[in-house]
Amino acid sequence: MQSKLLAPYEIREMTFKNRVVMSPMCMYAVEKKDGIVTDFHFTHYGSRAVGQVGLIMLEATAVLPEGRISEQDLGIWSDDQIAGLKKLVAHLHKSGAKVGIQLAHAGRKAQVPGPIYSATKLAFSEKYQTPEALTIPQIETVVSAFQKAVKRAEAAGFDVIEIHAAHGYLVNQFLSPLVNRREDQYGGPIGNRYQFLNEIIEAVRSEWTKPLFVRISAEDYAQEGVHLEDYLMMSRWLRDQGVDLIDVSTGGVIPLEAYDVYPGYQVQYADRIRKKVGIATGAVGMITTGNQAEEILRNERADLVFIGRELLRDPYWVKTSAKLLNAEDQLEVPTPYQRGWR
Ligand SMILES: Cc1cc2nc3c(=O)[nH]c(=O)nc-3n(C[C@H](O)[C@H](O)[C@H](O)COP(=O)(O)O)c2cc1C
Repeated sequence: MQSKLLAPYEIREMTFKNRVVMSPMCMYAVEKKDGIVTDFHFTHYGSRAVGQVGLIMLEATAVLPEGRISEQDLGIWSDDQIAGLKKLVAHLHKSGAKVGIQLAHAGRKAQVPGPIYSATKLAFSEKYQTPEALTIPQIETVVSAFQKAVKRAEAAGFDVIEIHAAHGYLVNQFLSPLVNRREDQYGGPIGNRYQFLNEIIEAVRSEWTKPLFVRISAEDYAQEGVHLEDYLMMSRWLRDQGVDLIDVSTGGVIPLEAYDVYPGYQVQYADRIRKKVGIATGAVGMITTGNQAEEILRNERADLVFIGRELLRDPYWVKTSAKLLNAEDQLEVPTPYQRGWR
């Protein structure tokens, strides 16, 4: 069978060798609280690159030290962090993978020595620090930190940038009325709550001509929160601002006891945004088999599939899927592995 999963994908004049994306996953593997890449990152990302993942999206990487989830997060707030990232990108390129970086700020979900910041002075839960509400000059500093991070990502040779606007981190804290209670131009109606992301995208696009992705949480799972309808509107704004692909996740804005999770539970959101807005989307969340991924792509419910935990279990998931789909002839085989893979 000709597999769509294994077929190349072109976006903004860049070609990924297949439609498998390694979903961004924090590894908390920085050793000296300096945000710098370690040997572990070379082994971890390197094995997925040898495993023929088309696009490797590096984990949430902090644009400011106070925007880290933990002190073990990767960082891109300083020029000292460029060399390690550059070496890692070059290493992954050797296996033919394209490499992206997810630029992030944890906001009130930061678990680092304070002060920490959010849209509003409202803690995530009693286990978290209470954040300061960002002042307008401080908002400008954060926007400019994203812009500087993009320059560093360019210097490090990344192919794709993804802005982390999901899972209840800082950008999501501005987007959701469950957290954003501001009374200035950044709070209130949806257009105002979008303003922070709007400024970040503008700053990023002024520096970056390559593919730009945004990860969103299309559903807050709370009545008073943000729902798909709101994200359809915001996705149109993102499309019009030159974002190439929306990576569609859900949740994380408020602590939830449990929500209904099942195979492909978020695909419906990627599907609707893709069809109603006319922008490329990535599907993510409990996509674990090649058949499931192929179904999503063939039925045009998303353009790319992001694989998270299954790639932690099986770094050779692309090969496993190629075999399942009877499409091993579409798979590039790393030369040293020829005798094992063919
Ligand atoms: C260990 C781990 C770390 C994660 N870190 C991030 C992250 O840095 N950024 C992000 O957007 N999502 C993160 N996620 C969410 C994944 O990218 C993915 O959306 C989620 O695990 C659902 O996909 P899956 O069922 O294929 O794992 C993380 C998930 C895991 C398991």
